[in-house]
Amino acid sequence: MYDKGKIIAGIVIFLILITFPIWYLTAHSQTSHVPQLQAAAGNECVESTSYMLDNHMKLLDEWRTLVVRDGNDTYVASNGQEWNISLTGTCLSCHNKAEFCDQCHTYEGVTLNCWSCHFAGY
Ligand code: HEC
Ligand code: HEC
Ligand code: HEC
Repeated sequence: MYDKGKIIAGIVIFLILITFPIWYLTAHSQTSHVPQLQAAAGNECVESTSYMLDNHMKLLDEWRTLVVRDGNDTYVASNGQEWNISLTGTCLSCHNKAEFCDQCHTYEGVTLNCWSCHFAGY
């Protein structure tokens, strides 16, 4: 005598096991290198996303130099768009400090001293 219940259960378990690598990888691939970050307001960043990912610290350095050394508070992006140079006023008008900047820095083990002077307000 066959036990239909056990056979079906066996087939279900077998299917879960052989497909496990597929759904396990699908579920984990999006979050594997960077934690889930809060989406930004606006459609695009000051420069391209890939440029920002690699070079936002250099851009901020450039911004500081423009303001502090050159007294220039307008940045002209590579697409010609003009931005008011302000870490808190511009970057944080689109990005949430805690849910975006801090979240990634904590994950990457990066600590910033900027916020002691550049008060983010939250
Ligand atoms: C000891 C205090 C202090 C610290 C720490 C500090 N800054 Fe500043 N920063 C200033 C001051 C003062 C100005 C000049 C403000 C002005 O003229 O508008 C400035 C200007 C700037 C500007 C241009 C103006 C603006 O408001 O955005 C940028 C960009 C900037 N800093 C980025 C940074 C970054 C990035 C860090 C961390 C790596 C940092 N700063 C850390 C004090 C500080
Ligand atoms: C007008 C809104 C806006 C402003 C202003 C802005 N960003 Fe962005 N930023 C975005 C958008 C949209 C993206 C695309 C990814 C997303 O949706 O989070 C992005 C992407 C990024 C990324 C790459 C993140 C990733 O997921 O790859 C970094 C880092 C970043 N921005 C930092 C900054 C910094 C630093 C400033 C100020 C110099 C700034 N942003 C100003 C809207 C903005
Ligand atoms: C997707 C990840 C990610 C996001 C989001 C991100 N950062 Fe960073 N940030 C990094 C990494 C990684 C480094 C260290 C890079 C290095 O050491 O070369 C860094 C370095 C920096 C530095 C230089 C620190 C130093 O003292 O050298 C500044 C300033 C900075 N980030 C500002 C910001 C600000 C402001 C935001 C939010 C608007 C932001 N970052 C969002 C990943 C991120």
